[in-house]
Amino acid sequence: MATALNDSSRDRVLMVLALAALAPCAFAQGTTPAKLSLNTGKEIYEAACIACHGNGGKGMPDTTVAFDKPKSFPDFSRCDQTTPELNVDWKATIRDGGHGRGFSPIMPSFVDALTSEQMDKVIAYLRSLCADKSWPRGEFNLPLPIVTEKAFPEDEIVVTSALNGQGGPGSTTDIIYERRFGARNQIEVDIPVVFNRQSPGLWYGDVGDTTLGVKRVLIANLRAGSILSAFGGVILPSGNRTHGLGAGVTTFESFAAYAQLLPANSFVQLQAGTDQPTETSKAPRSVFWRAALGKSFRQSGGLGRMWTPMTEFVASRDFTSHATTDWDIVPQFQVTLSQRQHVRANLGFRIPVTNTADRPIQAVFYLLWDWFDGGLREGWR
Ligand code: HEC
Repeated sequence: MATALNDSSRDRVLMVLALAALAPCAFAQGTTPAKLSLNTGKEIYEAACIACHGNGGKGMPDTTVAFDKPKSFPDFSRCDQTTPELNVDWKATIRDGGHGRGFSPIMPSFVDALTSEQMDKVIAYLRSLCADKSWPRGEFNLPLPIVTEKAFPEDEIVVTSALNGQGGPGSTTDIIYERRFGARNQIEVDIPVVFNRQSPGLWYGDVGDTTLGVKRVLIANLRAGSILSAFGGVILPSGNRTHGLGAGVTTFESFAAYAQLLPANSFVQLQAGTDQPTETSKAPRSVFWRAALGKSFRQSGGLGRMWTPMTEFVASRDFTSHATTDWDIVPQFQVTLSQRQHVRANLGFRIPVTNTADRPIQAVFYLLWDWFDGGLREGWR
């Protein structure tokens, strides 16, 4: 707060603001960056960013800056805070200023001051400030498919609804909470709420079988563009079996999830695993495997709103004597809703292609909130 500043800190404030104001102007008024020999990311940082972001990217102490901030400066040396952010999101903030992503407008736009290459260099410098390379980079945080689980550990809340398009009316809504801990781990809770029509006029709705689990990243190699994770969890019989809302038995679930980044913002995400019920008289053991193929398109010179069409191929098979594999195809479209890209929606159709008799086509929709990136109502501009 400006009122709480003493004289010497007020001087520093003025200096910071003067520097901040001058740095971009120096470029804008025809002094080419080359003349200032701002060739390395570090040089650019020291000329244009350090006044606010401080030595080593730690941010100027709150008492030395006069402006009201929605939160403290990002600390670029903290891997837990920086690695989830994508380079393209940083570049959008540098190009368009904080305003462009619903951050503090005090973060200026450098669209006239820095070339695209210089922005990439200063981003590479900011990346070098996180020393612990065990944190997987946010580039692996690919758009979430409707069925296939991601390899990347998330801080997210997702609400997914599936509505029967044929046969008996019914719907399932999954409320999924995911939270990271440490560099590579994440816990997950999935509570389904099921509604179905037992007989004409008689609807039944309740909680289904709840999943608790832990995911851990095993390999994340940005140069190769691959990430591999393992998941172990337990599905609790919280759903009422007699009403068809649960299996009535505790089941252990385990799977591996893998993603490969491909050229031109395309990707493939794979998942394979098994469900092992503790009593096979109530529910059969089963295996499942899933693949999602997609490609993202970004508006506004590659830095704006993102559209991602995807198609999933989903298979599962029970370990019973006459079982055959259930195959589904799930075409879908994800779009980022908020300017900050942390609130997203996806709409798709789950279309059974084998064993279609008792498996209706479903419309599936989710809303996703990456709460690490800001409040639900922040970042819309
Ligand atoms: C006038 C002060 C000021 C200057 C100069 C400045 N920034 Fe910022 N920057 C901020 C503030 C304040 C925020 C935090 C915005 C928020 O969180 O609401 C910010 C946020 C950012 C972010 C977003 C971080 C995140 O958490 O997503 C990036 C990236 C960034 N700045 C890079 C730079 C670079 C690179 C430069 C120099 C080319 C620079 N900034 C110059 C004030 C400044």
